[in-house]
Amino acid sequence: MQIAERISHFQESVIRKMTRLAMANDAINLSQGFPDFDTPPALKEAAAKAIRDGNNQYSPTWGYGPLREKLAEMYTERLGWPVDPAQHVTVTCGVTEAMNAALLALLNPGDEVLIIEPAHENYIPSAIFAGARAVPVPLEAPDYRLDPERLDRAVTPRTRALILNTPHNPTGRVFDAKEIAGVVDVVLCHDLVLITDEIYDRILYDGREHTFPGALEPLRERTVTVSGLSKTFAITGWRLGFVIAPTHLSEAVRPVHDFMTVCAPTPLQVAAVSALNFPQSYFDDQVADYHQRRALMMGILDEIGFVAPTPEGSYYTLAEYSGVPVPQAEWDSMRFAVWMVEEVGIAVVPGSVFYSLPGYGDRSVRFAFPKKLSTLEAAGEKLRKMLNSTTGRPFVQ
Ligand SMILES: Cc1ncc(COP(=O)(O)O)c(C=O)c1O
Repeated sequence: MQIAERISHFQESVIRKMTRLAMANDAINLSQGFPDFDTPPALKEAAAKAIRDGNNQYSPTWGYGPLREKLAEMYTERLGWPVDPAQHVTVTCGVTEAMNAALLALLNPGDEVLIIEPAHENYIPSAIFAGARAVPVPLEAPDYRLDPERLDRAVTPRTRALILNTPHNPTGRVFDAKEIAGVVDVVLCHDLVLITDEIYDRILYDGREHTFPGALEPLRERTVTVSGLSKTFAITGWRLGFVIAPTHLSEAVRPVHDFMTVCAPTPLQVAAVSALNFPQSYFDDQVADYHQRRALMMGILDEIGFVAPTPEGSYYTLAEYSGVPVPQAEWDSMRFAVWMVEEVGIAVVPGSVFYSLPGYGDRSVRFAFPKKLSTLEAAGEKLRKMLNSTTGRPFVQ
């Protein structure tokens, strides 16, 4: 039986595999980025009510009308141009589907798309689906700053698009005005489309504010803004995302979405309207809670000997483990992560997963901390126990 050639270019997600290993080993799961605290009760009730009220059939393929209207209102303010729910908003099954739809709609086979690495695991398979070539541009540890000159050098006559994820997974970076200005220059100079992934736009630390690249005047006509509700409302299983784009880009993305999934889950779209209408206090409390989680996580990592940049946004940090005593000093990040889940009882993601470039990420692992403080404290206990291990196993540094 023939298997499609494209399948040979990627494998199952290592992030989701680490979650399975966490379950198999009864480990604390700090690998996949989802909360272990519950969805706001009002939102659960809204979803249950939407089902009881009969919202159980297909919704319009571009999205449930009132949800598109709410998103259009929000993004008119955020992007500074009149976002029309009838033309510019498409509700998708998560950012994952939105990104697939965008790349399928905008790239031809053989086109190149710039991907800033370390990068969320899904982008390369998305490019492969479109027959496009993902061209990695690395951010370097320990600062993970975006170097626009390096971005510029990666452009070839085949480059068509650039994916920009900010706040960033897995580094926790929030690209600053200078870095964003560099991206704008590269996009304009080479006539590219910018596809953003802004799923962490509400998880920012130390008073930072999110820059919506699609709001920048020269980018408005060439930006596909992608975001979603998974993270902001602790509903990663609801699969709700969206694309906001000017008419010519929206018209390209919509039929792909239509034939890929028909529509996002209807009752959950109905409930999502109430989420987007939550009072400001919900978002403020969430940011305050994330500051606590970040402080606890970073304190633990520092105590154990990990070297990790303090996240500026999102809920991840990419931690270097060279200073942590492990049985074999030469372990690469995959071996280290397997040891962590099997022997220490904590699942993390190997740093190398986020790079296609060889040699990058090899001495680091990603910790995700959208967790109850008690979960993070329990992880701290396990790590301390590892450090003071009395197993008699020789620790070689
Ligand atoms: C940067 C980034 N993009 C997209 C996703 C997936 O988003 P969704 O649940 O909306 O498909 C994640 C999930 O971890 C992510 O970190």
